[in-house]
Amino acid sequence: MQLLDGKIASKAVKEKLQQQVNEIVSSGKRAPHLAVILVGNNGASETYVASKVKTCGEIGFKSTMIRLDVTVSEEGLLQEIIKLNQDEALDGILVQLPLPKHISEQKVIATIAPEKDVDGFHPISAGNLMLGIPSFIPATPYGIMLMLEHYNIETKGKHAVVIGRSNIVGRPMSVLLSGNNQYGNCTVTLCHSHTHNLKELCLEADIIVAALGKPEFVHADMVKDGAILIDVGITRVADATKKSGYSIKGDVAFSEVAPKTSFITPVPGGVGLMTIAGLLKNTLKAYELRTK
Ligand code: GUN
Repeated sequence: MQLLDGKIASKAVKEKLQQQVNEIVSSGKRAPHLAVILVGNNGASETYVASKVKTCGEIGFKSTMIRLDVTVSEEGLLQEIIKLNQDEALDGILVQLPLPKHISEQKVIATIAPEKDVDGFHPISAGNLMLGIPSFIPATPYGIMLMLEHYNIETKGKHAVVIGRSNIVGRPMSVLLSGNNQYGNCTVTLCHSHTHNLKELCLEADIIVAALGKPEFVHADMVKDGAILIDVGITRVADATKKSGYSIKGDVAFSEVAPKTSFITPVPGGVGLMTIAGLLKNTLKAYELRTK
């Protein structure tokens, strides 16, 4: 079993990005600039957003954090996005999800200018992904592809089972893995809450991507020997032994599953770190497309 270490793989991506930003800035141009909007104060969202902003600073990107009260109207948020769309010196716009119930995520995402859609959630980005047209790939699936690339994992011809069909992870992941690209060419089974024979399907998988958000859902008896396990879960579970009062659990029961695998991502320290790497690569891409 080899650990797919998000710290190592994301460090490699970030070092390359930092080098590219250094070259840009030393040629007299401005640095790439990401705006992050956080509505309300959901604990997990606060952590993710803080981490995105911090990493921007580490590699030399400019970032602007916009905090809006949980009571902001949908129209108020849309107006904020329109302002950012028009800001010439801004390359990427990210609205952290989930949003409060009174705001339509679909409307918000569709309002972001497609050329600044570094999350890859806009219908145009999603359509491009579907058609295999180069575009912004959602950060988590993109990060997983970067992880596979870093560890030189061959995917061609393999059977990949993706558990979870969210627009953010499962569905785009299934498109990428089945696509005609270097880290695709898999046969993909996309499973969800209505799948009848999940265990049998998982036992046939060479690659399992667990992205359903249920802590320790994947057990050893669902995994064939030598499989590659990608764990996207990051659920906070109450834990009185921790100062924070919670610990982070993945969707895979790591200690029992890991010995059966050829490669496995840990949680934390796996896919989560790669998500930020994917976002930053998208931001540089947006910058390059907008300033060329
Ligand atoms: N919430 C959970 N994951 C994500 C993500 O990748 N982007 C945004 N904007 N919100 C999220």
